[in-house]
Amino acid sequence: MAGRSAIQIAVNNSFRIGVLGSGKGSNFVALADAVAAGKIPAEIAVVLSDVESAGILAHAREQKIPAQFIPPGKFRTKLDEDAERAFVAALQNAKVDLIVLAGFMRVLKGDFLRAFEGRIVNIHPSLLPCFPGLESWRQALDHGVKVAGCTVHFVDAGVDSGAIIGQSAVPVLDDDTAEILHQRIHAAEYELYPRCIAALARGEISVAGRRVFWKKT
Ligand code: GRF
Repeated sequence: MAGRSAIQIAVNNSFRIGVLGSGKGSNFVALADAVAAGKIPAEIAVVLSDVESAGILAHAREQKIPAQFIPPGKFRTKLDEDAERAFVAALQNAKVDLIVLAGFMRVLKGDFLRAFEGRIVNIHPSLLPCFPGLESWRQALDHGVKVAGCTVHFVDAGVDSGAIIGQSAVPVLDDDTAEILHQRIHAAEYELYPRCIAALARGEISVAGRRVFWKKT
């Protein structure tokens, strides 16, 4: 597009991904399956968690991917300084090109964001900017929207506020409970996240301010 000044995400021959998660890790499994199937031209170099018993660590170990628990420190919703340093060091040691948040339940702050500027992505279970924060599928149901979904976005200093890479919509049906809607959104995530990460790994994504562009293939 003429006049578009976009920043291309740097890619190299062996694109390395670090995954951070706090929970069961079903999105990680979808990503690992897509890597194994050759749909994402990348390697998952390391999986890190702030929760020792998180399913995501067990899934990673099953797949022989290096997996590490790093104690998050004294805060509930963010990493303390020591923990932040430990996460950054583990990701730098693993030489990751991209950090993929997959259910990581802590807000990332200054030093972490500066260390990996423009190279951290997240998936959120709503059509952002609607319903940021916790239990967004329940927020969507309670609000009465007819369409819900999920969003993959770059991570910035806000909560679920970075530039949007991709979105996928699902209907909200009359009989839905929060759990049923959550499952439908999850199913959409397992298709959307690998598709976005594959495009990033192929260098097909460029960014201009808040707008993210996909190279036409
Ligand atoms: C997903 O719903 C994702 O959108 C949100 O956290 C959840 C992680 O689930 N950020 P899982 O651990 O991948 O199963």
